Amino acid sequence: MSQNSPKIYDAVILGASGFTGKYVVREALKFLNAPNSPLKSLALAGRSPARLAEALKWAAGGDSPPNIPLLTADTTDPNSLSRIAAQAKIILNCVGPFRLYGQPVVSACVDAGCDYLDISGEPEFMERMEALYHEEAVEKGALVVSACGFDSVPAEIGLLFHSRQWAGPAAPNRVEACLSLESDKKVVLNFGTYESAVLGVANADKLVELRRSRPKRARPTIPGPTHAKGSLIEHQKQLGLWALKLPSADSVVVRRTLATLTENPHGLPGANETANDLKKREAFWSSVKPAHFGVKLGSKSLFGLFPYIMLGIFIGLLCRVALGRWLLLKFPSFFSLGGFKKEGPSKEEVESATFKMWFVGHGFSDASLASKGNKKPDTEVITRVAGPEVGYLATPIILIQCALVVLSNRGSLPRGGVFTPGIVFGPTDLQERLQENGISFDFISKNSISA
Ligand SMILES: NC(=O)c1ccc[n+]([C@@H]2O[C@H](COP(=O)([O-])OP(=O)(O)OC[C@H]3O[C@@H](n4cnc5c(N)ncnc54)[C@H](OP(=O)(O)O)[C@@H]3O)[C@@H](O)[C@H]2O)c1
Repeated sequence: MSQNSPKIYDAVILGASGFTGKYVVREALKFLNAPNSPLKSLALAGRSPARLAEALKWAAGGDSPPNIPLLTADTTDPNSLSRIAAQAKIILNCVGPFRLYGQPVVSACVDAGCDYLDISGEPEFMERMEALYHEEAVEKGALVVSACGFDSVPAEIGLLFHSRQWAGPAAPNRVEACLSLESDKKVVLNFGTYESAVLGVANADKLVELRRSRPKRARPTIPGPTHAKGSLIEHQKQLGLWALKLPSADSVVVRRTLATLTENPHGLPGANETANDLKKREAFWSSVKPAHFGVKLGSKSLFGLFPYIMLGIFIGLLCRVALGRWLLLKFPSFFSLGGFKKEGPSKEEVESATFKMWFVGHGFSDASLASKGNKKPDTEVITRVAGPEVGYLATPIILIQCALVVLSNRGSLPRGGVFTPGIVFGPTDLQERLQENGISFDFISKNSISA
């Protein structure tokens, strides 16, 4: 099939048989041929048609599953990837760790001019794809957006929402996101996420090397002091939470979004945008005020942070040597004190979990104060993003809504290129769509603080 042949499928979910993949299929089925939905045709792809059929049956709730094509594709077989990329408007990639399996999929999509979204939370993979494929993706008209899951859409769209609460002349200086995972049962994630995290830390030096080899990105102008290091653990009185610094992908993705915005102050022009789209985009970005950004993990008690601290220590100590990595990957439940399991969380564990991501912003009631020697922020704004379980409920909701935005309004999005979700979806109706699907964005408070 040539690059210009008509596309058979609106979307193909690759890795549909995975733990996350099957939840993504379940979410996609809610919109397939639903009234006003742009998703009219869907196919599932993966290594094993039998496992895909099983996932489809599970996703359809055990009822007679809908008649959806099951396509064989293996990331070690480039032809199989080219075939699905030629047939799809958009590939939704759920095959991870992305550092191991992602590149051939991006390559096939870019080559075929097929749009690509994934749920990676791996900064090195994302930045490497940008370095390798951005120019070609621009040329071929393929939109490549990683981190369209819990990593990093709540942080990205949440920060944009937060920063827009600072009506001029007020402006934020620093926004600290504090993530609180809540459940009546235990919060458990599948091995796939654990493996991706362990391999990410083990290869941290490759990310440093990659960044050194790349041109420096633009930095936004932010009123007030530059970022102070802060302590590893602190008590966030306003939230009633103990907060631990989290080396998450979110802050890196947000930084890339703010760099792209600094280079393109009105955002990215749409491939075929209407005068109305243009007006909306420019108005949106002119209301966004960049800030220093960091992420913390919150817990009601100091003791609640203990498993995360232990996991951080284990991964930090063990992942740099082969035997240590083997042990970490062999016994995920032991090293994470039950937080990650090879068999993944039970349906009950998934359904009982929720998240809240608090955004605590400190800044100035009048941004010009910052340059007049009054360097201490005098205003605090708190906003919150909240929703269901992060890995297998929120992530599928986010990925599918991102896909629906692409399918329904492709002309308002960049023609092609490798981008972060914030810069692509910020001015679209993604936030409203997430709200309609159980992920809320709320303004909580605005207060003066002693300068
Ligand atoms: N952004 C977020 O917040 C978020 C949330 C959840 C998950 N994730 C990420 O999603 C990824 C998957 O996690 P998971 O827990 O779903 O893992 P998983 O259960 O192991 O699923 C992996 C999937 O990849 C497929 N696969 C493996 N090797 C392949 C190959 N060579 N060719 C084609 N397909 C291949 C597997 O297919 P088979 O059935 O054939 O084995 C399976 O469908 C991880 O990187 C994780 O970090 C991110």
